[in-house]
Amino acid sequence: MHVYIDKITNEHVDKEITIKGWLYNKRSSGKIHFLELRDGTGLIQAIAGITDVGEEIFEEIKKITQESSVIVTGKVSKHPKKENFYELVATKVELVSLAQEYPISKKEHGPDFLLDNRHLWLRSKRQMAIMRIRHTIVKACRDFFDNRGYTLFDSPILTGNACEGTTTLFETDYFGQPAYLSQSGQLYGEAGAFALGKIYVFGPTFRAEKSKTRRHLTEFWMIEPEVAYLELEGIMELAEDFLSYLVERVLDKNKVELEIIERDFKKLEGIAPPFPRISYTEAVEILRKEGINFEWGGDFGAPDETIISGKFDKPVMVHRFPTEIKAFYMKRDPKNEKVVLGVDVLAPEGYGEIIGGAQREDNLDFLLERIEEHKLPREIFEWYLDLRKYGSVPHGGFGMGLERAVTWICGLQHLRETIPFPRMLQRLYP
Ligand code: 4AD
Ligand code: MG
Repeated sequence: MHVYIDKITNEHVDKEITIKGWLYNKRSSGKIHFLELRDGTGLIQAIAGITDVGEEIFEEIKKITQESSVIVTGKVSKHPKKENFYELVATKVELVSLAQEYPISKKEHGPDFLLDNRHLWLRSKRQMAIMRIRHTIVKACRDFFDNRGYTLFDSPILTGNACEGTTTLFETDYFGQPAYLSQSGQLYGEAGAFALGKIYVFGPTFRAEKSKTRRHLTEFWMIEPEVAYLELEGIMELAEDFLSYLVERVLDKNKVELEIIERDFKKLEGIAPPFPRISYTEAVEILRKEGINFEWGGDFGAPDETIISGKFDKPVMVHRFPTEIKAFYMKRDPKNEKVVLGVDVLAPEGYGEIIGGAQREDNLDFLLERIEEHKLPREIFEWYLDLRKYGSVPHGGFGMGLERAVTWICGLQHLRETIPFPRMLQRLYP
């Protein structure tokens, strides 16, 4: 009977089952081979002794290389030391396809080599664990908003709009007119919120990031709730509830994976509302106290974010950024025109921005002013301006970069391990 490794339970003990997978690792000592098998759902050790499998199969196993595909039948026994772990006493080992010498071995490989072999690297324990955690987070994102009555609202990938500035646009030819790959689904999400009340956009987004950093991909996934009648304070409450929910879910579902990647999950256990809230101006004060000569009005760089977030052990919400450095659609604070009702959420442990959000400009004339200030072509925003002509209301939302969240929750050094095939400056292969 074929059983997936993660479905083996006490009920299988002493019974014969079949595992279909690949040889992850092999050790041999005298008359026993220890085969570590993987089938995508987990790993199990199969013990193939010469007396159980017979001399012929025993000899054949000697030739089976790492990552060869194999079908192994044997009797299940409990792991001698680990609770809820099992072993297989093999009686039959069938080779499906003999692997050539596998390029990824136990020795240390450089990141470029691993990225060139990403299609194979994904089979390693650590990468599989990260992919499972990513999956948990994606599912939790959907569950969070679905449970609160949001409607999933897909935005187009090909668009004529520049949502987040014109410097990071990927341009393509759309039957003779320029089109861009979407930088954010937000503007369309606003139309969705005015139709459906509360929606979320969840899809791939693209930015031609020309610098090589640990935090930037050129293709990444963003989850973007947008809600009618929601103002800045409500947006911040939504963001802290949402992030706490994601962390809680991973702690609940992925203890095994967190152990594989050696995440200190004590650091995640305290992530619950309320999160600290500070204004941009207060954040500047923090930097100055650290001796940094930071001028009010500038944008925070990665090292600045690291210092600010380092002061808190929960994500910190920095609100009311200078109008000049933020996107055209953000609503200015009626109490102070120099700042906008926007918020960035900075993850702890130096991870920096994982969420960017804002209350949107809902007044037609002010929005037109901002479009002009940013020297954006009005024609392509006519439809967006209509939203302010036909029943405008205060509204807002945010965008969370999925890979940034996975990087933080997994405690990784670099974003590149959080997506199956990362796209970065100078990387389009495989
Ligand atoms: O702060 P950003 O640019 O905000 C927006 O795009 C808004 N339109 C979202 C909204 O309000 N609906 O991007 C949002 C998030 C960032 O906080 C970051 O987590 C992620 O998207 N992000 C990136 N992730 C990976 N690589 C990049 N190059 C990223 N650029 C932004
Ligand atoms: Mg941002």
